[in-house]
Amino acid sequence: MSESNPAGATGRANILLTGGAGYLGSHTYVALWQAGFQPVILDDFSNSDPATLKRLQQITGTPTRCERGSVADTGLVAELIKLQRIQAVMHFAGFKAVGESVAQPLKYYRNNLGGMLSLLQAMGDSACQTLVFSSSATVYGDPSQLPITEDCPRSHTSPYGHTKLICEDMIAAVQQASGAWRTAVLRYFNPVGAHPSGLIGEAPLGTPNNLLPLVAQVAAGLRPALKVYGQDFATPDGTGVRDYIHVQDLAQGHVAALAALLRGQASFTVNLGTGRGHSVLEVVRAFELASGRPVPWQFAPRRSGDVASCYADPGLAEHLLGWRAERTLAQMCADTWRWQAGLLT
Ligand code: WQD
Repeated sequence: MSESNPAGATGRANILLTGGAGYLGSHTYVALWQAGFQPVILDDFSNSDPATLKRLQQITGTPTRCERGSVADTGLVAELIKLQRIQAVMHFAGFKAVGESVAQPLKYYRNNLGGMLSLLQAMGDSACQTLVFSSSATVYGDPSQLPITEDCPRSHTSPYGHTKLICEDMIAAVQQASGAWRTAVLRYFNPVGAHPSGLIGEAPLGTPNNLLPLVAQVAAGLRPALKVYGQDFATPDGTGVRDYIHVQDLAQGHVAALAALLRGQASFTVNLGTGRGHSVLEVVRAFELASGRPVPWQFAPRRSGDVASCYADPGLAEHLLGWRAERTLAQMCADTWRWQAGLLT
């Protein structure tokens, strides 16, 4: 590998994916490979399945590059960046269950903030200062306007959301301290779906928290019925409305954000959503159509902290990155079902 060519022996620029064996990380690994980059995973498998590495090799046709370890190990991260000549980092590693964060706040502050602190330190020490950060629409709290634009006020309704908000501020602080940083903060709305191969998808450890994995498990007969949390929200059918976005569209959004930074685009924060909201009952109906399976459900009391509606204005990402989500709710459900059905075999 020549000094002038920072790309690895493969001629591809090496991109570090912390938490790269997880849901978003693994799908972005594939999208980066297909876009001509060489992704390198750093994962401690505390919240992901090592079997994903083999599945990624099946999809890309090449051995999966992975270092087992924690992003909290600053020395390891710095060494990895140097030895692998990492050109940029995508930071996915973090816990993300809202309810768990309320029950165990210190676990979330330690893991999510400690991981970001360690990563920023290692990147600064290694003069690798191009960062794409996995943030979340949860930083908008109970949105003050709809659709949500990036300049909407931020707030938090859980320790999980608080850690995302603080991580965004940590990035802003290092950027203020040194103009050498180029950062993209990506605020995901509701990630759902799976790679069309059915080989990778959302595999929450234990009981899922999010709607789609639960609907899929009900359709598969693994759960008797879905509890629909709340029927009296100020929405068309009274159930919660969210901006569900296909994980494949999200992965493409990461590639577009990285390409923009590598082209010299100044640091930015964008929403990654479709701009469309769907209610819980719309999702249930779409899933029944996609799977050909009934999804029994029953109303239950509202879940604490749930807002009525949350959906993006995705205009800034389209303007800056030339990216917009393309996949429909039907495709999200079909790809989720293929993944879920594969888990049963
Ligand atoms: C969606 C809708 C529920 C389960 C959270 C985080 C966000 C992101 C995605 C990480 C709501 C309803 C759900 C069920 C239901 N996380 N629902 N029955 O709460 O919008 O967002 O997960 O990136 O940051 O805040 O997603 O999938 O939990 O809920 O009726 O069994 O489905 O009330 O209206 P949420 P969700």
